[in-house]
Amino acid sequence: MGSMRSMRSVWHALSGWIRGRPPRDRGFLVPRRARLGPPKIAVASVGHRFGTGRRQVVALHDVNIAVHPGEFVCLLGPSGCGKSTLLYALAGHLAPSGGHITIDGVEVHGPGPDRLLLFQDHALFPWLSVRQNLEFPLRARGRSRADAAARARAYIGLVHLDGFEQALPHQLSGGMRMRVQLARALAMDPAVLLMDEPFAALDAQTRSHMHQLLQTIWLRDRKTVVFVTHDVREALVLGDRVVVMAARPGRVLQDLDVNLPRPRDPDDAPLVELSRRIRGALREAEGVGADAEARARSGPDGRARKDPSDERAAEGADLPPRAAGGLGAPR
Ligand SMILES: Nc1ncnc2c1ncn2[C@@H]1O[C@H](COP(=O)(O)OP(=O)(O)OP(=O)(O)O)[C@@H](O)[C@H]1O
Ligand SMILES: [Mg+2]
Repeated sequence: MGSMRSMRSVWHALSGWIRGRPPRDRGFLVPRRARLGPPKIAVASVGHRFGTGRRQVVALHDVNIAVHPGEFVCLLGPSGCGKSTLLYALAGHLAPSGGHITIDGVEVHGPGPDRLLLFQDHALFPWLSVRQNLEFPLRARGRSRADAAARARAYIGLVHLDGFEQALPHQLSGGMRMRVQLARALAMDPAVLLMDEPFAALDAQTRSHMHQLLQTIWLRDRKTVVFVTHDVREALVLGDRVVVMAARPGRVLQDLDVNLPRPRDPDDAPLVELSRRIRGALREAEGVGADAEARARSGPDGRARKDPSDERAAEGADLPPRAAGGLGAPR
């Protein structure tokens, strides 16, 4: 009963900052509107647990997300809310314990050339030059030498690294290495780009350059992108949609369209104001998650549960994620 009340209070907080926003930013952040046509990516009732018994962690609980072609979706949430778990499931590196993930209507059963995962660690071949780092995977995918060379040249130019074609990764700065990684990913022309906090290790200024660059490239190519971050402003700068997640259990709180004009700057006043409110709502959701976790670990009388692997309690079944205003419901 208490959890019903606390979950409702999170919903009020979330809907409150949407409803109660001042007139000047009305419409910048709205509940996601329905899209026409079939989704590129469909996540349906996905749940995932790590471990068993008392050590069980519910990394994802009843996650429903539909991503349409050409959308830039940011998965935003605090540490441990299951962002990476969901991204790895999309990439096919992890099979979720429940639910279904489809790409173009086909169930994901493993990695595929249609999806490319980009990490914070640059993962470049250290013994290959910038140009060779781009050409190697293109050749491995069967492109001709001339085609691979032309694509490498074009994408090196796109990320402003002309003149560094012969440099080895260790001769580049962190930001330049990330640009090589981005160029390599884009040159492969994947239908879906999956990015897990790729800019987290960069200094603020380099990060900001990467944001501008990624916006420009996305506006040009309109790839379908799922971008994981716990940085609210980064999500608002990059995403045309932000899926707000919370932890314990990892779940979707809100699915929002970002209608701020591009190119966006993290210091734009409406963006700063919106990020402040999202942070506030996330802080409240974290408190509710911690309460729910404590209750899931103890019985209704407050004593430890006799059967710690009790599925409903472990999944936070006393949380009403759907009841609370359709949070996490597919639209
Ligand atoms: N291999 C694993 N074994 C056990 N538990 C795991 C494993 N991977 C993740 N978890 C747990 O699952 C939950 C979700 O983890 P995940 O890495 O998806 O979170 P995240 O949102 O990406 O967090 P961060 O922002 O810190 O990267 C966490 O509680 C984490 O401890
Ligand atoms: Mg992560």
